[in-house]
Amino acid sequence: MRACIAGMGSYVPVKVLTNTDLEGMVATSDEWIVERTGIRERHVASPGEACSDLAVQAAERALAAARVSAAELDMILLATCTGDYPLPATACLIQHRLGAAKAAACDVSAACCGFVYALSLADAYIKTGMRHVLIIGSEVMSGITDWTDRNTCILFGDGAGAAVISASDNDRGILSTHLRSDGSLCELITVPGGGSRLPLSEKVVAERMQYIKMKGNETFKVAVRTLEEVARETLAANHLGVEDLDLYVPHQANIRILKAVASRLGLPPEKVMLNLDRYGNTSAASIPIALDEAVRQGRIKEGSLVLLGAFGAGLTWASALIRW
Ligand code: COA
Repeated sequence: MRACIAGMGSYVPVKVLTNTDLEGMVATSDEWIVERTGIRERHVASPGEACSDLAVQAAERALAAARVSAAELDMILLATCTGDYPLPATACLIQHRLGAAKAAACDVSAACCGFVYALSLADAYIKTGMRHVLIIGSEVMSGITDWTDRNTCILFGDGAGAAVISASDNDRGILSTHLRSDGSLCELITVPGGGSRLPLSEKVVAERMQYIKMKGNETFKVAVRTLEEVARETLAANHLGVEDLDLYVPHQANIRILKAVASRLGLPPEKVMLNLDRYGNTSAASIPIALDEAVRQGRIKEGSLVLLGAFGAGLTWASALIRW
């Protein structure tokens, strides 16, 4: 018994924010952003467009691709750090809107690693008897972005990607997942205000503590190291080498991080999925959006060996190896 990806879907808001648009908001330039990050534009939600709105669109596409009805779902796991409300879990709103009458629903909080963490949970639930688990990464990062901070506002975008994970009795599917964390590095990427440590107040808002703060340079170095380590660990656990991979689908954070990881692993550029130029860093949505695109572009076919690699706040890092 294996858990396989039966169908994928993604959705991004209509509105596009280009680097040129950002030039009018903070002291930056298209040239700087492209050179340092590889990002050219990102999609941003319109006022009133929330995490569950993007998630439902992506989920409906994934269900259609998988030919699974919402009524058949046993569980919905939503990976997000930008849910509609602090309470309840946004997954419950999605459960209701999809009409997934018998599905359990909860959110997974693992920042940019959320989709791979959710994939790992779905894999475990399938192996213990569930038939269909819907996993979604959906983020409205624009709502926690400080649009006056040029260090961070150039990086993030909004979007959603979803996958239906189903029980399968052939030998294709999720081969293994590898999840890690190191909370001693929690201050590298954080939203300091709005939680129980520093509840929302006029002071919190005045000091802009409800937005993402990031130590970009330190984050960059840890990202390269951990992505390489977890990729090697995953391949070794499956007695496979880098040369066996058909496609590496990493979290789309920064082109320089991904080029450094690919070069350390000895992966040629054509085996690395990149779409951050058009979406920026969409946190938990980035891997499923990239996976969905790779499938639709024919870069992933039946039998392809696909490695996912994620890294993000927590800190967390994670990978998964899939025989498609
Ligand atoms: N436009 C122009 N200049 C900018 C800028 C911007 N948007 N943002 C920062 N700068 C300036 C800095 O102020 C600094 O100027 P100074 O030397 O006069 O102080 C200079 O550019 C270099 O800053 P630095 O932070 O060293 O740049 P960098 O090469 O590390 O690039 C990031 C910055 C944020 C692009 C990079 O560190 C990064 O991508 N880190 C990883 C972040 C990430 O992926 N986080 C999410 C993980 S899930």
